[in-house]
Amino acid sequence: MEWRIKDPSLAKQGRVQIEWAERHMPVVMRIRERFSREKPLSGIRISAVLHVTKETGALVRTLAAGGAEVWLAGSNPLSTQDDVAAALVEDGIHVFAWRGQGSDEYWWCIDRIIEASPHVVMDDGADLHARLHMTKRDLARKILGGSEETTTGVMRLRAMEREGVLQYPVIAVNNALTKYLFDNRYGTGQSTIDGILRATNILLAGKTVVIAGYGWVGRGIAMRARGMGARVVVVEVDPIKALEALMDGYEVMSMSKAARIGDIFITATGNRDVIRAEHFEHMKDGAFLANAGHFNVEVSVEDLERISVSKRVLRNYVTEYTLKNGKKLYLLAEGRLVNLVAAEGHPSEVMDMSFANQALSVEYLVKNRGKLEPRVYNVPQEIDTEVARLKLASLGIELEELTEEQKRYLAQWAEGT
Ligand SMILES: NC(=O)c1ccc[n+]([C@@H]2O[C@H](COP(=O)([O-])OP(=O)(O)OC[C@H]3O[C@@H](n4cnc5c(N)ncnc54)[C@H](O)[C@@H]3O)[C@@H](O)[C@H]2O)c1
Repeated sequence: MEWRIKDPSLAKQGRVQIEWAERHMPVVMRIRERFSREKPLSGIRISAVLHVTKETGALVRTLAAGGAEVWLAGSNPLSTQDDVAAALVEDGIHVFAWRGQGSDEYWWCIDRIIEASPHVVMDDGADLHARLHMTKRDLARKILGGSEETTTGVMRLRAMEREGVLQYPVIAVNNALTKYLFDNRYGTGQSTIDGILRATNILLAGKTVVIAGYGWVGRGIAMRARGMGARVVVVEVDPIKALEALMDGYEVMSMSKAARIGDIFITATGNRDVIRAEHFEHMKDGAFLANAGHFNVEVSVEDLERISVSKRVLRNYVTEYTLKNGKKLYLLAEGRLVNLVAAEGHPSEVMDMSFANQALSVEYLVKNRGKLEPRVYNVPQEIDTEVARLKLASLGIELEELTEEQKRYLAQWAEGT
């Protein structure tokens, strides 16, 4: 069996972590029970690039219970939970991931799971999809399908689809309602604040928090920052989102203006250089910079390095930059996703729904092999609804049911005032 992780002796600790996640992931566990009986993934080799967290542990153990052989690499050099990686190796998962990888090591791990010749690929950010298409086009043609976990990855896949290079069907798990409404919003909302607090232990009450991007992630963070007493400022490029932020009760302004008043800056755009030299120069002494977007390109670390005279690591995941103008800025988690680097990522309860969509989407791809085009598909509506139904059932919550008369009323046009 092949694997490369930091320390196999951490397995016992990792097993407890996975057990904790599984306790809070009832939907994934229901799917696992069925997968164990029906073995829908029998004979299927899956290569997955996902953050190696305890929740991912619950997912890959479910895929393995369904009969799959799983190869796993991390989706960020700083997000792997080494104890979880060790426990998964014990479970027979081929894990290639450790926390604190260099960029070459990160790609080396992805190449190892590509060499396993997967039938199905799962990704978070589309580095695996892109790498496969750039370096192993022949192999890509043979893949029966893939899935994608996050907004940035779906955007990259849509670009591949537009340019006609995509070689296999991909299910955009991110676009399931039971994914982005909960994971991107409540999951990232809570865990981003968690990451900032674990790294700094600062008080949020009374601070001005500037959030760049008012998409699903940005609005979740805004909601939670306000809940902890912060004054929230939103920076947007989309007029509709900006208006929505305004009417949700936040201040809205350009980054040039926000740069002068913010105490904590959080990027959540999926775009690059959202905060750059021209902004850093006007920031208050002591401002914090954090990112919740997928890649470490939103806060321009390159600019920060260029306009600084010195830097030092003050605490875990807090780097102090002293600018030429004498001010000090504090970059968290090296500009990578602060919730996965400085905290543990999303709570298990939301990953329960995201990963239920992943597991059911993989099953769908296998059942429909040969029938799908090389395109980006949304998660089938039945799967999305089933995930919500199972989640509510696990919480013991009953739905109201339409009466026959109500169904008839909703389907007609003649009856009005
Ligand atoms: N940290 C996590 O665990 C986590 C979880 C889910 C998604 N993500 C990532 O977070 C990012 C945002 O995801 P989302 O689902 O909210 O996307 P989204 O598309 O819903 O929102 C992004 C918003 O950013 C805005 N934007 C783009 N460029 C901007 C700029 N220069 N300045 C200000 N605003 C700008 C867009 O108009 C849009 O409203 C993506 O990279 C996604 O992959 C991270």
